[in-house]
Amino acid sequence: MQVGIVGAGMVGATTAFAAVLLRAASEVVLVDIDRAKAEAHADDIFHAVPFAGHARVRAGDFADLAGARAVVLACGVSQQPGETRLQLLGRNAAVFREVVPGVVRAAPGAILIVVSNPVDVLTCVALEASGLPAGRVIGSGTTLDTARFRALLADHLRVAPQSVHAYVVGEHGDSEVLLWSSAAVGGLPLDAAAANLGRPLTREDRQRIDDAVRRAAYRIIAGKGATYYGVAGAVARLLRAIRDDERAVLTVSAVGRPGASYGDVALSLPRVVGAGGIEAELLPPLADDEADALARSAGILRDALRSLPR
Ligand code: 2OP
Repeated sequence: MQVGIVGAGMVGATTAFAAVLLRAASEVVLVDIDRAKAEAHADDIFHAVPFAGHARVRAGDFADLAGARAVVLACGVSQQPGETRLQLLGRNAAVFREVVPGVVRAAPGAILIVVSNPVDVLTCVALEASGLPAGRVIGSGTTLDTARFRALLADHLRVAPQSVHAYVVGEHGDSEVLLWSSAAVGGLPLDAAAANLGRPLTREDRQRIDDAVRRAAYRIIAGKGATYYGVAGAVARLLRAIRDDERAVLTVSAVGRPGASYGDVALSLPRVVGAGGIEAELLPPLADDEADALARSAGILRDALRSLPR
């Protein structure tokens, strides 16, 4: 599986590293306007390959994306301490409008994976600039937030995160919605599982976990300037779902089916991801407050999209 990564900043480079170590790609091409940086990262990652299996890693131009099954868009600016994801929109939309047509010309068969922020609105921008069907323009969305939610619940309950089924939907950002009402562990509703395990979840526990998920990026950026390991893990997971035609349910961002709820903006819902990209969409049952919060999140994204000059 050949994967292109446009943008060799910390997110792009770490995604390349994760894709190689997790064997999600057999060939990675890193493209950046700073060619020397792309080459340096490619060399550094290539030297880790003997510890991981087999993969080719190199720097290249758009033309080297030919044949890629997926191209990860990690270009543009990233959040500075205190900045929200939506504040990056104008600058990164301009970068995407310039980059995406060139990517599609070079790799017309590729699935585009949008990672730069604000990921949901940039997924809409990439969809329009690419002319591709909606199922082939996928934002990493809340795959990372869902992982953060599961990791914190698993830690509280002392079970493996893979045994927790719980989703974060909506914006990958401040208005995201943690779906507590449908969370389950080992086939049991969350509260029943927590009681069984002798680890009940109080109101304060829920508030702490909600805050830790929603504020994670702010805390990490305040501490070290950027987040990249978590999102790189999420994108490598997504690449494996595409490579193996897994039809895995992941909370990726996409413009929904025409006529579907929130079909006019890209936001995250649990979706089935396989070799062709997004194959189906699932809307979990929502408690009233969750439905309201999701509608509010969609409204925020709609306003952000409309604020963009055409
Ligand atoms: C994250 O949530 C900043 O969107 C990035 O880690």
